[in-house]
Amino acid sequence: MKHIITLIPGDGIGPEVSAQVVRIIEAAGVEVTWETHYAGAQALEKFGDTLPQELLDSILHNKVALKGPITTPIGKGFTSVNVGLRKALDLYANLRPVRALPNVPCRYPELDLVIVRENTEDLYAGLEHVVVPGVVESLKIITEKASTRIARFAFDYARREGRKKITAVHKANIMKLSDGLFLECFRNVARDYPEIAADDKIVDNACMQLVMRPEQFDVMLLENLYGDIVSDLCAGLVGGLGLVPGANIGERGAVFEAVHGSAPDIAGQGVANPTALLQSAILMLRHIGERDAAERIEQGMLAVFREGKVRTRDIGGTAKTSEFARAIIEAFSDRAAGVN
Ligand code: NAI
Repeated sequence: MKHIITLIPGDGIGPEVSAQVVRIIEAAGVEVTWETHYAGAQALEKFGDTLPQELLDSILHNKVALKGPITTPIGKGFTSVNVGLRKALDLYANLRPVRALPNVPCRYPELDLVIVRENTEDLYAGLEHVVVPGVVESLKIITEKASTRIARFAFDYARREGRKKITAVHKANIMKLSDGLFLECFRNVARDYPEIAADDKIVDNACMQLVMRPEQFDVMLLENLYGDIVSDLCAGLVGGLGLVPGANIGERGAVFEAVHGSAPDIAGQGVANPTALLQSAILMLRHIGERDAAERIEQGMLAVFREGKVRTRDIGGTAKTSEFARAIIEAFSDRAAGVN
């Protein structure tokens, strides 16, 4: 089956890593027509808008996009394109599998958990205003609708992927109404999935437990702000942001992206590590039903990590982005040909 996928190469190292990921997907035999679109500063220059309507229409039509990182100017300038995309397309679920890779030094080489983060509301929505000079109010909105929908997403995901337990993370002992509602919705939804264990932890304790005994978690479900913080903490447990994948998923479409930024310090040198975007692309392939190709690419990538000869600079090697991609392609092609 031929797929049409929206490709947002992004800026900084974005075009370098996305070109190599596209190359790997095509080498795995997946037939894709890529609809390339720009966002951020590049789009502002060309179309006068950081998030052009053509781009949104393309994702709404194709239902799936692969996205490289996009620079957000600090302080003045335009607001985050990443947050804008989530809002415009109501990508309500943020999914971040956290798993260590062979031969990459990290604290928990055996860790394998998944973070599901509500993406649309909570303090992270940034609804704040000055009440009087010197007093700022920031609104935390939690709704039954959004809390129920994200809980259902988490349980459906766990069922589909054979996960055994979901832990809701909250501060309902203090924020009894808002986090209390989030927890209540989680417990209500859990009743429909009796085969999946459901428990909960207060966010501060959950952070300590993650640092000391992370293997007790399987799927973690969090509101937007706790999810933002805890998912980066988890990336740190397995080697950092440069390696873990991410996806933003809603009813109208899904955007798969690396969680790292545009790395302006190394952009243009061809030395960026494409692993995070490649892992996001593997998630994307599973999402569009290309499970065999996803498995093949994943096994090839794991083989290259296990062998440890071809490594990019960020993880102690000298390989260029393109050399690393070639090694992965060779690894899965050799496996297919029965060569060890
Ligand atoms: P960053 O993730 O771009 O870079 C932090 C450090 O990690 C740098 O030393 C960089 O060289 C390194 N690094 C990141 N990705 C790498 C990769 N794939 N291979 C090798 N090394 C890698 O974070 P920073 O500097 O805070 O942000 C730069 C820009 O990216 C900012 O404008 C920020 O707003 C934007 N950003 C965009 C995101 C997105 O589009 N999803 C996410 C995070 C930041």
